[in-house]
Amino acid sequence: MIMMTDSTSHTPSATGTGSTDRAVRVRDLPVRLFHWALVITVMVLAITGLFGEENWLPVHVWAGQGLAVLIVFRLIWWFVGGRYSRLSTYPLGMKALKAHLTGLLRGENPLRPGHNPAGAWNIVIMITLLTLLVITGYVTWGGQEMQGPLAWIDYRTGETFAGIHEVLAWLLLATMAAHIAGVFVEVRIFGHPLLTAMTRGTLPVPIGESEKDNRTFRGLVVFVLAAMMIVAVNMISTGVPESRWRAVAYLPAYASNCADCHHAHHPSLRLAADWERIIAGLEDHFGEDATIGAKTEAEILAFLKANDARRFDTEAAVRMGRVQTKDLRITSGEYWQMRHAGIPEPVFRSPAVGSKANCNACHRDAETGRFDDAMIRIPPEALRAGNEATHTNRGES
Ligand code: HEC
Ligand code: HEC
Repeated sequence: MIMMTDSTSHTPSATGTGSTDRAVRVRDLPVRLFHWALVITVMVLAITGLFGEENWLPVHVWAGQGLAVLIVFRLIWWFVGGRYSRLSTYPLGMKALKAHLTGLLRGENPLRPGHNPAGAWNIVIMITLLTLLVITGYVTWGGQEMQGPLAWIDYRTGETFAGIHEVLAWLLLATMAAHIAGVFVEVRIFGHPLLTAMTRGTLPVPIGESEKDNRTFRGLVVFVLAAMMIVAVNMISTGVPESRWRAVAYLPAYASNCADCHHAHHPSLRLAADWERIIAGLEDHFGEDATIGAKTEAEILAFLKANDARRFDTEAAVRMGRVQTKDLRITSGEYWQMRHAGIPEPVFRSPAVGSKANCNACHRDAETGRFDDAMIRIPPEALRAGNEATHTNRGES
């Protein structure tokens, strides 16, 4: 409450004297650079996160790591930054907020060198949301994608945090909209040149408010520290634990006998009980006779059961492999269908893919069982075939 009066008391609200005419510096250079870097980073994150295809995830993650650096920087800058960059100068008292809001209704809104109470709250909420977005982003990245410093987090936890991450993202967008609306009101209705404050760093407030220096060197040091911290966090990462995923050496008999008509599916895509039923029914295998001979079949079954869906904690194993389906297919499971709903049938039937069962036609890492977003690529000729079929299929088929 004391800090509130500290930052507002210098502003002559009614008397508007000549001393407020000269523009003096109130925003240090690091905070201005932070602000515009944040604008660009959040735009990239919002576009890749909300509208991007799955295989844009690497861009989202790189931007997210950049955001992590910016946020660590800003949190430190709250304590060592220029006067009005410091949290201690924010007018966060409830009384100040109330006075500000009732003042607004009367058309009173003196220009302050720092933030007004509503703006200060908005910034605190934005930085808090951004911090939570960075944290939940790392948990999601680790849990769902088995990447980054938290690759040991299990898939289901990652999935829960992905949901939280998304809610936070929408809350952030709402808070940012309020921020922009607030700046608009300040600039348009009250004529406060806030954009100049965030570009040149100056505002026409009493001389006494001026910052002595730009704190450029200090800002650089804090930024490098923040970047080093995020790099260190990434280096501490222990990699993917065996309990989540490990490389499987395909049994030669499996690779040769079960890859004639479709690619040899990763064993984590079915439960042991379903592999048993598939192998027991090879004489009528989806309309084909796929029998191999009892001894080889037993070997293949042992291999598949030893590496079944329960032994892996990947998205493919948890959401597709551990799902039992009446027809034993992976591709008739609800989650498989949901994730592939956007792909037209003719794409699957095109020569470049052949069948839904050929996961490896689009998932370049299908053989590892990881099904990384970054490894998805529908063959262009299959996409073309799909487009042509949807435009010309009248009268055909
Ligand atoms: C003679 C050809 C042939 C051989 C050999 C064969 N399959 Fe299949 N398999 C098929 C066909 C056809 C389908 C149905 C694919 C479709 O509908 O697109 C299928 C589907 C499957 C599916 C379900 C894929 C889905 O759509 O979810 C699994 C799992 C599977 N096969 C496992 C095996 C295993 C294990 C072996 C080796 C023991 C094997 N297949 C050997 C022809 C074959
Ligand atoms: C015609 C190409 C194609 C085929 C064939 C295909 N997929 Fe996919 N798959 C995709 C695309 C594209 C996506 C991303 C969908 C999206 O944007 O949500 C995807 C998403 C996935 C995902 C989620 C990946 C992630 O990290 O979000 C998994 C797991 C997956 N597929 C497994 C399979 C399995 C198992 C098979 C074979 C039985 C298969 N897919 C066959 C194209 C294909």
